Amino acid sequence: MAFDYPSSVLIVDVGPRDGLQNEKTQVPTTIKAELIRQLVDAGVRKLETTSYVSPKWVPQMADNAEVMRSITRRPGVCYSVLVPNMKGFEAAMEGKPDEIVVFGAASEAFSQRNINCSIAESIERFAPVVEAALAAGIKVRGAMSCTVGCPYEGEIAPERVGYLARLMKEIGVQHVGVADTIGVGTPIKVQRAIDATLQHYDIDDVSGHFHDTYGQALANTLAALQMGIWQFDTSVAGLGGCPYARGATGNVATEDVVYMLHGMGIETGIDLDALIDAGEMISNFLERTNSSRVARAILNRRAMLAEAAATA
Ligand code: HMG
Ligand code: MG
Repeated sequence: MAFDYPSSVLIVDVGPRDGLQNEKTQVPTTIKAELIRQLVDAGVRKLETTSYVSPKWVPQMADNAEVMRSITRRPGVCYSVLVPNMKGFEAAMEGKPDEIVVFGAASEAFSQRNINCSIAESIERFAPVVEAALAAGIKVRGAMSCTVGCPYEGEIAPERVGYLARLMKEIGVQHVGVADTIGVGTPIKVQRAIDATLQHYDIDDVSGHFHDTYGQALANTLAALQMGIWQFDTSVAGLGGCPYARGATGNVATEDVVYMLHGMGIETGIDLDALIDAGEMISNFLERTNSSRVARAILNRRAMLAEAAATA
């Protein structure tokens, strides 16, 4: 069967936010800013740089204002930040984000654990944030967690995703991300979650956000691409996890998605080698093996070529 694949894809690297938020040791602001710089240099045109959440809940993001102050903004690059409520929005304004992301969940239990309120209450909190952001000319995205599975409630029916997407739409959220927070989704289930979202949002206003806990994220990305989705959140070196989704590993690695897309003739505007260097920088800093299979393969190849050149 032939699919009508997009000719280009927008990669949103969420590494500096989703990738680092779960790290126990505080990553210095300078390293976060350097990671952002290297990602932008590699050609990434949209990133999640930080989040304005309670530092008691997520200490790693406590330096949000410093991160935004430390980065040299590049024209044409969209710098997004997460905000859960008006307090977060007001704090975020100083950093002049291009986009804010409100984050809700298709699962009641996850909503309670992650943002300490019900789904309905979260929408009440988001509504004034969305209104204020739009009035200030800032784009608004909504992240929808647990769209296929929840660590507390198990499988999530597509109707619940549709319900959340409708609520997001009603308060003016312009774009929504379908997230598989704990990486349990498989292609058909992910397609059903996306389908439920498409009842309320146009294809151009929906993105995929797949964690790779069960190794399904690349397959889920392909399944979404086959539906016409062309915007994906990914994380350099496959970093990441949500502090309130225990056991969930990182997002699909940016390197792996870029390699797959380029291999399919789909453009991303990203230089894979430079991206791998950024992934290595942060993996080395964290003293962590790079989680990207593509990065590991290319690094091995680089080492083999260097060895061959040295002995020639
Ligand atoms: P709460 O305790 O219900 O809030 O937390 P509250 O309004 O009752 O305030 C309690 C305290 O928090 C007060 O401070 C507030 O000032 C403070 P105190 O008087 O005790 O000193 N506070 C804040 N401080 C800084 N920034 C704020 C803020 N709001 C209140 N914005 C809250 C509610 C949402 C703040 C809390 O639950 C929280 O911070 N949760 C963190 C959630 C989080 O960051 N999760 C990870 C990101 S989501 C994710 O990773 C999923 C995603 O990747 C998609 C996917 O994979 O599914 C996006
Ligand atoms: Mg996530």
